[in-house]
Amino acid sequence: MADEFRPEHIIVTGGAGFIGSNFVHWVVDHQPGVHVTVLDALTYAGNRENLAGIPEDRMTFVHGDICDAALLDEIVPGADAIVHFAAESHNDNSIADPTPFVRTNVEGTYQLLEAARKHGVRFHHISTDEVYGDLALDDPARFTEETPYRPSSPYSSTKASSDMLARAWFRTYGVPVTISNCSNNYGPRQHIEKFIPRQITNILCGIRPKLYGDGLNVRDWIHTEDHSSAVWAILTRGVPGETYLIGADGERNNIDVLRAILERMGKGADDFDWVRDRPGHDRRYAIDSTKLRRELGWQPAHTDFAEGLDDTIAWYRDNEDWWRPAKEAVEARYAAQGQ
Ligand code: NAD
Ligand code: TYD
Repeated sequence: MADEFRPEHIIVTGGAGFIGSNFVHWVVDHQPGVHVTVLDALTYAGNRENLAGIPEDRMTFVHGDICDAALLDEIVPGADAIVHFAAESHNDNSIADPTPFVRTNVEGTYQLLEAARKHGVRFHHISTDEVYGDLALDDPARFTEETPYRPSSPYSSTKASSDMLARAWFRTYGVPVTISNCSNNYGPRQHIEKFIPRQITNILCGIRPKLYGDGLNVRDWIHTEDHSSAVWAILTRGVPGETYLIGADGERNNIDVLRAILERMGKGADDFDWVRDRPGHDRRYAIDSTKLRRELGWQPAHTDFAEGLDDTIAWYRDNEDWWRPAKEAVEARYAAQGQ
């Protein structure tokens, strides 16, 4: 463990998105001395409402693009660290049009690393387990920090590229970079294009849920609050130059997750449609988070998936105004893809 790093002012990119906003709320609730500057372009996935209720003296919101080097020169000096969540984050979108993925995920990360280098700021890079490709269903192995990179989709290959840039900026320029690769998150404020909120909001709208392929693909689910506490542990106690995998032993296949949602929402086990599989669909992700737990003493708090799912369903029930405006367009786009 490194000497504890105690930032007083952090820049959170993508702080108006799903995981970024949950992180900002977590920091405001758990780290009283820390000021947060959110930098977010408010793309289709960003929503200013995600930061509602945060006191003005704890957060500054900057509406802007991470690719804008001049803007970064204005806001990065004075900060102690950049925590970089901003990304194009959805695999299906990356298959339909990879262009914004290359721009935001690769060029945007490059611009932020350059700003961190120029202004002497620490950098925590948020990444995904998808950079490691996939595992077979019958393989006992899980991903570790040593697993070779083997990304499958335009999304995961741009995230892998950004990880490589972050590693190079540490090795070549000595920028104090840490990297985390996390498994699939769930919880409040996740965009309804993603698996769990899509199915919950489908049921709330009277639409049958949609399952890709044979439904046996496995994802390793973690509650977004546990992702937040892990990122804080790595930012403050992690060793520059190191990568940490974040996961909470939550492997489940898609059909089991969908049936759990159906049951909790009063539907039958077969009340869903099978739809066209995703091209290149990764079979299984699984994280071994031993390094993070042993070296930094982190542990997940949300270990009861059923309870986390109940809370998530309740959040979408209670916040229809948040998701309803996007629903029709999201479903129209999926329908056009046969999904
Ligand atoms: P999201 O799509 O919900 O949010 C992304 C945010 O980034 C939005 O607020 C958007 O407005 C902003 N953004 C996009 N392009 C931008 C740009 N050019 N400049 C400034 N802001 C921009 O994504 P998410 O699911 O919250 O994911 C956040 C991060 O976590 C991503 O880096 C993603 O790769 C990573 N991650 C996600 C998961 C998951 O399960 N969702 C798992 C592991 C890692
Ligand atoms: P997703 O939430 O897109 O996350 P990721 O691709 O990053 O893992 O999808 C999670 C899993 O759910 C993935 O195996 C694809 C599948 N899926 C469906 O079966 N139906 C759907 O409507 C969606 C959006 C995803």
